[in-house]
Amino acid sequence: MPIHQNNQIWILETEHSAYGFGFNRSGRLVHTYWGNRLPAQHDYPSPSDSDGWASFDGPSEVLAEEYPCSGGMNYHEPCLKISFADGVRDVRLKFQSSSYPAPEHLILHLHDPFYPLVVDLHYRIHPDHDLIERWAELQNQGELPIQIERALSAAWQLPASSVRRISHLGGRWNDEFNLYRQPLTPGVFQLESRRLSSGHQHNPWFALENGLADEQDGEVWFGVLAWSGSWKLCAETTPFERFRLLIGINDWDFAWQLDPGEIFSTPHALAGYTQNGFGAASRLLHTYLRSQLPHAPTLHKVLYNSWEATLFDVSANGQTHLAQIAAQLGVERFVMDDGWFCGRHHDSAGLGDWTPDPDKFPHGLYPLIRSVQDLGMDFGLWIEPEMVNPDSNLYRTHPDWVFHYPTRPNTLARNQLMLNLARPDVQEYLIQSLSTLLAENEIAFIKWDMNRNVSEAGWPGAPRQAREVWVRYTQGVYHVWNTLRQRFPHIIWQSCSGGGGRSDAGILQLADQIWPSDNTSALARLRIQEGFLQAYPANVMESWVTDADRNNLSLNFRFHVSMCGSLGIGGNLLNWSLTERLTAARCIARYKALRPIIQGGDLYRLRSFAQDGNPALLYLDQERENGALFAFCTRSPNPAAAHPLHIRLQGLPTQTLYMVEGQPLARSGASWMQEGFTLPLQPGQSLLLQIARV
Ligand code: DGJ
Repeated sequence: MPIHQNNQIWILETEHSAYGFGFNRSGRLVHTYWGNRLPAQHDYPSPSDSDGWASFDGPSEVLAEEYPCSGGMNYHEPCLKISFADGVRDVRLKFQSSSYPAPEHLILHLHDPFYPLVVDLHYRIHPDHDLIERWAELQNQGELPIQIERALSAAWQLPASSVRRISHLGGRWNDEFNLYRQPLTPGVFQLESRRLSSGHQHNPWFALENGLADEQDGEVWFGVLAWSGSWKLCAETTPFERFRLLIGINDWDFAWQLDPGEIFSTPHALAGYTQNGFGAASRLLHTYLRSQLPHAPTLHKVLYNSWEATLFDVSANGQTHLAQIAAQLGVERFVMDDGWFCGRHHDSAGLGDWTPDPDKFPHGLYPLIRSVQDLGMDFGLWIEPEMVNPDSNLYRTHPDWVFHYPTRPNTLARNQLMLNLARPDVQEYLIQSLSTLLAENEIAFIKWDMNRNVSEAGWPGAPRQAREVWVRYTQGVYHVWNTLRQRFPHIIWQSCSGGGGRSDAGILQLADQIWPSDNTSALARLRIQEGFLQAYPANVMESWVTDADRNNLSLNFRFHVSMCGSLGIGGNLLNWSLTERLTAARCIARYKALRPIIQGGDLYRLRSFAQDGNPALLYLDQERENGALFAFCTRSPNPAAAHPLHIRLQGLPTQTLYMVEGQPLARSGASWMQEGFTLPLQPGQSLLLQIARV
């Protein structure tokens, strides 16, 4: 049993870690421990008690409250803010009972002693992954509505001495997943999205440590939020040497009326602990997220995507020509991107009308799909369901379906408006029209795009839901996507939002893949991928070889960059020379041979791109039989040297003998890891080497 209970104190144990909390003598739910698993139950601390500090700071300032609420003398960030029908805005939660729906799932049932509000705190343990999953459910058991003003998923508590630095990911369109490591000082450090998507700007992932951790060593606490809409993270270092990180749905402009009998559930927050640095933190998340993917443990096919080759200029003939070459290279899936549907000759028209354009496809998609299948590939298609162009039949028929305020002009972005997916009728329209598309055509793969963020988030005629749209919209996206997934379970979905604008653990419950960035320059990708892989596994990271950098980087190098994830091709194959096609075919064959290791193995970041521009990544299969090592040189650390890259492997059993491709002798794991070896790479060169147990 991984959950231990003693009176009103709980210890949740994973394989290597433990997480503790309990009610103190004053009845407050207090966090007690999060770190390495200890030998005995009595080793874990008990919930502390406090009367506060002087007359200025009450107990809730001093104690590590497990789910802090707004009220009393609480001046720090709370998880819960409520307004009761009589105007009281003060929540007190008391213990009611606990229950265990499963051996690894605990629910603490809390209630307000005066008002009919019940709050269930859920804890689910993932012992093999050293992860704890948390969420909250609020229920109104009374007869009057209760206004929720904030309901975050979890507060993660730690001593401030353990947390002096936060790592996070962010950037902008075309420049996602920059990795920032930032010192924490007293006060609140906040990251968020207010955009109705998780966003390019910040990603709902974090890693915390004392400022000394590195790839292989040091205590790291890390986590993600499984939510694809607006979110918020508050990392607060208090004057009382406590640190707390709160994460959940963004409460900016948010309010939710909880009617009698209703339940509001927060998204799930996931967090873990390791003593083995950032590398281990990533691997724990990778293995867990990979195991939860809708089609796990499917290996992704090598795909071709026509977007960069044709933009909106798609036709059955043009696509077939590309498909013929793609098939010769060994591509297994052909994806037609934007431009195929009614009126879509440019980005000013067509979004919303999900039927093939009659000029481009007079006989529908069938002839193209048939020729793709005859070439031995399956067929994939691009859609952008949440959007509409004013120049579309859908908008002409239902102008009221977009977010808008009647007294304000609508803000166009990329000539499009956002459908209000909080509306059940919009959800129903999308389910129907996309079901027809998917039922009428043999489609194996869908790329679901989202190319703008919200503006004028109004829903005229639904005043009650006005501030609920921030949550109802994302619930609507999940509902439409889930319904389609259930109706068409064979389809593999890819999440895209102008690149990586919707990359999160929530969308990975619907999509098996993510398109991390519209930036397909191999050099930019080395950095973007390094950031992406901090949080998300390699098999979900779709990566195309395109014509970007064609003049300054070899095709081999560009392939190696894309082979670090789920390989795709996105260049204009009609322009590729015979030599380029031969190189591509060779790389694709190599990728297929190593694909199980890359997509399903453990990732070790041996060298970092951020450090000196010369990254090296090692993928090892779970059995430690085989590995794939990628090494890239983009600049010389020492121009006078002959650019040798020193590589030390990781993750191998010390006593076992291994061969590294191109190296003369088999050596022990210990030797490859301690002494390592050098690779004579020049700037612009890369290597992919196989590693095999002898
Ligand atoms: C943005 C995506 O990220 C691109 O890959 C492409 O699908 C375009 N949208 C199409 O409009």
